Amino acid sequence: MSSYVTRKTPGDTEWFRHDRFGMFIHWGLYAMPARHEWIKTNERIPEEKYEKYFKYFDPDLYDPKDWARQAKAAGMKYVVLTTKHHEGFCMFDSQYTDYKCTNTAAGRDLVREYVDAFRAEGLKIGFYYSLIDWHHPEFPIDMLHPRRDDPDAKEQSEGRDMKKYAEYMRNQVTELLTNYGKIDILWFDFSYSDNKPEEGKEWMKGKGKDDWEAEKLIETARSLQPGIIIDNRTELEQDLWTPEQYQPKDWVRHKETGELVTWEACQTLSGSWGYHRDEMTWKSPEMLIQMLVNTVSIGGNLLMNVGPTSRGYLDYRAEDALKTYADWMKYNSRSIYGCTMAEPELLKLCPNGCKFTQSEDGSRLYIHLFEYPFQFLELEGLAGKVDYAQFLHDGSELLYEENKISHFSEGRSKKDNMLVIKLPVRKPNTIVPVIELFLK
Ligand code: GLC
Repeated sequence: MSSYVTRKTPGDTEWFRHDRFGMFIHWGLYAMPARHEWIKTNERIPEEKYEKYFKYFDPDLYDPKDWARQAKAAGMKYVVLTTKHHEGFCMFDSQYTDYKCTNTAAGRDLVREYVDAFRAEGLKIGFYYSLIDWHHPEFPIDMLHPRRDDPDAKEQSEGRDMKKYAEYMRNQVTELLTNYGKIDILWFDFSYSDNKPEEGKEWMKGKGKDDWEAEKLIETARSLQPGIIIDNRTELEQDLWTPEQYQPKDWVRHKETGELVTWEACQTLSGSWGYHRDEMTWKSPEMLIQMLVNTVSIGGNLLMNVGPTSRGYLDYRAEDALKTYADWMKYNSRSIYGCTMAEPELLKLCPNGCKFTQSEDGSRLYIHLFEYPFQFLELEGLAGKVDYAQFLHDGSELLYEENKISHFSEGRSKKDNMLVIKLPVRKPNTIVPVIELFLK
């Protein structure tokens, strides 16, 4: 069994660490301008201009069953959809606002159809809910708000009651965790109380756990869905650490106790969470697969994001990326699901250009060949530990020698306890070939 023990937290995280791979979906009115989900604040878009997106939002091609099929084929085991992003627009039929999808040409509860479609494909269901709300009349203007540069920003913000907004959030979280069946993940985003406003604009201070009334918000959530996994972005430690657009080099640890924690790297396929027509930094197929393997190799999950178009479909670039995952996971998912960081005594033997994962029961070690070696892979220290070796993608045997000096490689000696796997000269037709070692 794996020797790695993660810090105990309230939520049911065991299935989560087993499943490893999820889909993030950023979808809202911001798909209309198609220039990033922060477009309203980045371009200081006036309310009457942003209203155009509300007026013309019509996801006539929305088919969450198709999204769910693609996510499942890609090997994603859970999904997290933005029910409300910073713009404040609700993708669900909330009774606490008119700023919602049922009042647009969509004319229906988009979250409802999302939940039904992904649940039918067997994926676990998550909701992203923004703590920030640039539309709500009680949300005070601050240094992130689209109206921050308005000449009368301070007057606009005067009288806004953060307590009323915090109650609004509790009411909406109650709706989300009451009306859609079992919800497995609640993904809040985000606190910025340490963001300091510029000189003379102290009233624009950042917001954190006290502003959100985070304790009451989380208590509300857990009273409705006790085992739910909640992230830490309310500024209250919960179940999930969430490094974003960043590939840690080691298993994320608790900053006070040093314990290993349950963590999830959230990443985008391109440079934007929301659909961005003209953003071109789409990750290569190699990067997509290597990010997933790299994350699991240090005990984490990967939440990979898609940003659907305002018409409601995933554009060809997102579909191509999901197909890359599907083609690789179809044959190699055994090195991801139920796997974690290799045991310390094995991890230190990992050759350059490779990444190890190991099955939770310790019986199988997976070698991911990020760089494909010529003919031989030397594994110092593994002689005597391996019972059988094969390529994972096609289950074809890989022959190996132990403690035998050959190929004029006199530089080696028996003390190296060397196991040398013979590989085909041509790299197999898979982005990252995986060697499956059955350990003694
Ligand atoms: C950042 C972005 C936000 C996105 C989130 C996803 O907070 O500002 O737009 O939803 O990351 O983790």
